[in-house]
Amino acid sequence: MRTTVGIIGAGPAGLLLARLLHNAGIDSVVLESRDRSYVERRQRAGILEQGTADVLRAAGAGERMDREGLRHDGIELRFDRRRHRVDFPALTGGRSVTVYAQTEVCKDLIALQLRQGGPLLFGAEALAVEDAGTDAPRVRFRHEGREDVLECSYVVGCDGFRGVARKAIPAGLSRVFERTYPFGWLGILADVPPSHDELVYARHDRGFALLSMRPPVTRRHPSEEVAALPVESFVSRLYLQVPDGTDAGAWADEEIWDELERRVETADDWRLERGPVIQKSVTPMRSYVHEPMRHGRLFLAGDAAHIVPPTGAKGLNLAVGDVVTFARALTHQQETGSAELLDAYSATCLRRVWQAERFSYDMTTLLHRAPGATPFEDRLQLARLERIATSRAAGTDLAEAYTGFPFG
Ligand code: FAD
Ligand code: DHB
Repeated sequence: MRTTVGIIGAGPAGLLLARLLHNAGIDSVVLESRDRSYVERRQRAGILEQGTADVLRAAGAGERMDREGLRHDGIELRFDRRRHRVDFPALTGGRSVTVYAQTEVCKDLIALQLRQGGPLLFGAEALAVEDAGTDAPRVRFRHEGREDVLECSYVVGCDGFRGVARKAIPAGLSRVFERTYPFGWLGILADVPPSHDELVYARHDRGFALLSMRPPVTRRHPSEEVAALPVESFVSRLYLQVPDGTDAGAWADEEIWDELERRVETADDWRLERGPVIQKSVTPMRSYVHEPMRHGRLFLAGDAAHIVPPTGAKGLNLAVGDVVTFARALTHQQETGSAELLDAYSATCLRRVWQAERFSYDMTTLLHRAPGATPFEDRLQLARLERIATSRAAGTDLAEAYTGFPFG
């Protein structure tokens, strides 16, 4: 098999890249090791930066997002039983974010690709990228029990943190910057309307908590993981900081609600609504950047190149920025013959990646309680939160980063 761009992985990065290339008249083949239903059900991110929503719309994949997604103009910070709203449009000159789940982004892109795009092979596991340093890179893969080779002009590794693409960059050329955190997030989906109309990020001496949501489920596009719910029913997405290595099954549903209630409690009469828990899992937290993001004709995009702790909701949005940058660079090369933008790919992406790493780290250390944190560190966290609540400059810094840095 031969193609111009071999794409490994059908997460948000690989699927959107295939779409952008198709729209630019460039052919591609997507290899995805899992089956379609697995990719469409994997519960992950839920917040789209304004730039991400704009890209999906411009790519022709925004129709359902515009109908079902929820525009959010702010978030609430909770600390010391107080509430402070960060007003995005007021602080950023009109920017906002959209609540629309990664599962739904993937479903929309898969449907489009299967209807009008190049091959998207599920159950096709890339085994290795070969000859990345030459003009004719290849992806060796296994599909339906047989080994095959995809001959490419370019390979883009969109195969997530545990993929194979990154391994094709010689160790002597790689630099890794990494930090792990001694805690993770226990995340639940619950069949109950959100108790607040915007996301709530809470700092508490017992640890961080986050109240988020998913758009209402509709009859036209039932979301499989909540298919049993009545039409137009809202779903809550909630997270708790838990110690590293926690088993989600060790937390009974009522214990989760009790703990959430304690951590998001306010001095006024606001109350947290409880409901049946329909899904439960634990996500570890890590910061990771692989430099460079390119070797010869192999390009890394999304989680294959970098991971952020989820506190700033940046993972999916960074993946989108990378593939937009690659698609622009390749289109430029095809139209002008100049490889200038392809050569700049890694440096261009990394500027944005490091801003997101910084923001995700800041949000994580602002809101989580590290084991063994001292009373001095607790007071510093509260002082940082107080500063955001009382200084327009500090609030603007958060709002600009949350709604997203420009691509490229
Ligand atoms: P992925 O979504 O990981 O997609 C990679 C794809 O490549 C997968 O479909 C995988 O099956 C496929 N693949 C892997 N290896 C191979 C191979 N050898 N051959 C073929 N295919 C392969 N971000 C947030 O902003 N908020 C969150 O709440 C949040 N929660 C998360 C929870 C978890 C458990 C994880 C892992 C991530 C979470 N993230 C979250 C991050 C966000 O979901 C990711 O940043 C985003 O999925 C990145 O997209 P991607 O396409 O780069 O990678
Ligand atoms: C969600 C995830 C995040 O990481 C975040 O910061 C906000 C919301 C979510 O899954 O809804």
